[in-house]
Amino acid sequence: MKVELDPWASGIRIEDYNKVIKEFGIGHFSDMLKRISEPNLYMKRGIIYGHRDFKQIADAIRKKEKYVMMTGLMPSGKMHFGHKMVADEIIWFQNHGAKVYVAVADIEAYLMRGSSLEELRKVAIEEYLTNYIALGLKPKNCVFYFQSEGSVKYQTLSKIFAKKVTFNELKAIYGNLTPEKIISALTQVADILHPQLENPIPTVVPVGTDQDPHIRLTRDIAYRFKKEYNFILPSATYHKFMGGLGGGKMSSSEPKSYIALTDSHEEVKTKINKYAFSGGQPTVEEHRKKGGNPDIDVSYQFLTFVEEDDNKLRKIYSDYKSGALLTGELKAILIEKINKFLETHQKKREKAKDKIDKFIIED
Ligand code: TRP
Repeated sequence: MKVELDPWASGIRIEDYNKVIKEFGIGHFSDMLKRISEPNLYMKRGIIYGHRDFKQIADAIRKKEKYVMMTGLMPSGKMHFGHKMVADEIIWFQNHGAKVYVAVADIEAYLMRGSSLEELRKVAIEEYLTNYIALGLKPKNCVFYFQSEGSVKYQTLSKIFAKKVTFNELKAIYGNLTPEKIISALTQVADILHPQLENPIPTVVPVGTDQDPHIRLTRDIAYRFKKEYNFILPSATYHKFMGGLGGGKMSSSEPKSYIALTDSHEEVKTKINKYAFSGGQPTVEEHRKKGGNPDIDVSYQFLTFVEEDDNKLRKIYSDYKSGALLTGELKAILIEKINKFLETHQKKREKAKDKIDKFIIED
């Protein structure tokens, strides 16, 4: 079966990433690892699994040349560990020389989901920006902006781009079209390309796989406007989605499916013990005999996102597989790991509130 990528379907689940790679001509990120001297956890573990044109970014990092990291966020609900991964990626690029652009996709969220711009602004600042700062985002070399408030040149760009795309082409990429979808897509293309308005500069866009239709469109448009703007085709990295606690998808609208960065110790404990899908056997005896299956166990999968120590993680994997480690014990490891992180994070989050105005210039 063909893989369908709809950037507006909430929390799609992809069964086979190799299929996606083949079908859409995405590169294997593992081929890039040797070019990166300090890969982050997600790169090393194959959670960031794909890329387009990443070589130009790896080169820029190595040669300490200028480049841009550009991405956007949909302000919706609470920020959870799936969102944290994206924030960590952004911050990694900032710490490796990138000029950072983060767009709050308030126009897209307004058009596609219907919250008011005021409400979206509040969520973007109080949830997302505050957590980003607590996770280490710095105001230097960072442009944090709202789609609804970007510069005139940026706003104009999204309209200019309409000149060189056809309705049929958009239909082929996005399926059923609406005016909202067209505006959202062209706004995102302007998000990604506007950092090059002054000077062409390599740009990397870290995204989930569902955003690839936008990346393909952006690269096509960048190419078609080469004469006018001299754009360098943007690069992208693709991460796997963090699965939901119950084994389905992680979704902001389903609190049982995620751990939020603002959850209390008790909530973390209850959610993991109650909802985290187990790859263990039904009885202790059976588990000791046959062992568990870490590859489908959600607590183990969660640990691959939060346990930095490769050796510790490897031992947990083999102990669970052999049956030496029980499901309850595995869950306890995860609960402790997350709660320890959250305790520090939530303190930093309080302090971050004072730094918000360094990122947002009110006019
Ligand atoms: N469409 C993205 C999402 O649904 C948000 C977004 C807006 C974005 N502008 C962007 C992502 C530019 C990457 C680059 O999450």
